[in-house]
Amino acid sequence: MSTSTPPTGDYAIDVHNLNKHFGNKHVVNDVSLRVGRGEIFGFLGPNGSGKTTSIRLMCGLLTPDSGSGTCLGYDILRESAQIKRHVGYMTQRFSYWEDLTIRENLDFVARIYQMPKRREAVDRALESLGLASRANQLTGALSGGWKQRLALAACMLHEPELLLLDEPTAGVDPTARRDFWEELHRLAARGISVLVSTHYMDEAERCHKLAYIAYGKLLTQGTASEVIAGQNLETWAIHGERLSALAAQLRNARGIDQTVVFGSALHASGRDHAALAAAVARAVEGQPLRAERIDTGLEDVFIYLMSQVKDNYANGDQKRSDGRGVTK
Ligand SMILES: Nc1ncnc2c1ncn2[C@@H]1O[C@H](COP(=O)(O)OP(=O)(O)OP(=O)(O)O)[C@@H](O)[C@H]1O
Ligand SMILES: [Mg+2]
Repeated sequence: MSTSTPPTGDYAIDVHNLNKHFGNKHVVNDVSLRVGRGEIFGFLGPNGSGKTTSIRLMCGLLTPDSGSGTCLGYDILRESAQIKRHVGYMTQRFSYWEDLTIRENLDFVARIYQMPKRREAVDRALESLGLASRANQLTGALSGGWKQRLALAACMLHEPELLLLDEPTAGVDPTARRDFWEELHRLAARGISVLVSTHYMDEAERCHKLAYIAYGKLLTQGTASEVIAGQNLETWAIHGERLSALAAQLRNARGIDQTVVFGSALHASGRDHAALAAAVARAVEGQPLRAERIDTGLEDVFIYLMSQVKDNYANGDQKRSDGRGVTK
């Protein structure tokens, strides 16, 4: 691999107004985003919202229709070869050989990249990700968590300064996910920047900053508390029986913008805080229900953002480029 040092810059990723169409579908719509050095940046959004495509645009793997920016200081349009040398990209699909051992897989990747001092690089990756004791295990026999660790080790082989991790913990059990995130925080503490897409809220909360994308548009970005504060939603939790029926009843009440059942509680959220409090008080009065005001969570906010953008599409305010409304 090249030993050239990348240009220094304040941001690991700094992209502006990226657009990408596939056919007549506007898959990435005016996305601008900045990831600071040493930052863990979470990328959230429903299936098909454009996360993977955005990631590929940001590291120069895919050319945008319009827009510009830098990745580690390199121009995403003209310097994709340099970007590849300094970025570790973990694709959404596990793509290693099941009939090779962990060590053989890493060695294979190191050969593809024509890395000098291959053996040392593989040993270092095995060691730093706690894989050394399993180096000779067949990859096909590994649990999901260890497979993800191998995938992370493979994209760390060339000691990148930025990791792009596309749903690295999908389908991985909670303990392995927690270990994986501890690893990410260790890497960030060493100054490595991380952009990670995920569907898990607990992971979103562990990011320094996050962004939410839907239908190709970034709806919000910032720290978790900025993202939450940005929507000015207040939330009440209602405890009791028959919460689904209560949710249906409350959905159209004045002051209530959203109802979501979370396990044993119904969350009712709204922007008009006084009207919300009054609606909740009316709903629980004389009923075997208990209501308490709680901190609005990221999930409340993401569900709200998604419903807003859906409504916009349904109202035809933001027609898709193919002229049809979005029905999903
Ligand atoms: N190469 C391609 N050609 C045509 N359409 C594509 C291509 N890649 C992605 N798409 C479409 O672009 C949209 C965004 O896809 P993308 O994979 O970026 O979403 P995502 O947010 O990563 O979804 P997921 O959470 O399911 O991984 C989808 O509608 C997808 O079908
Ligand atoms: Mg994806």
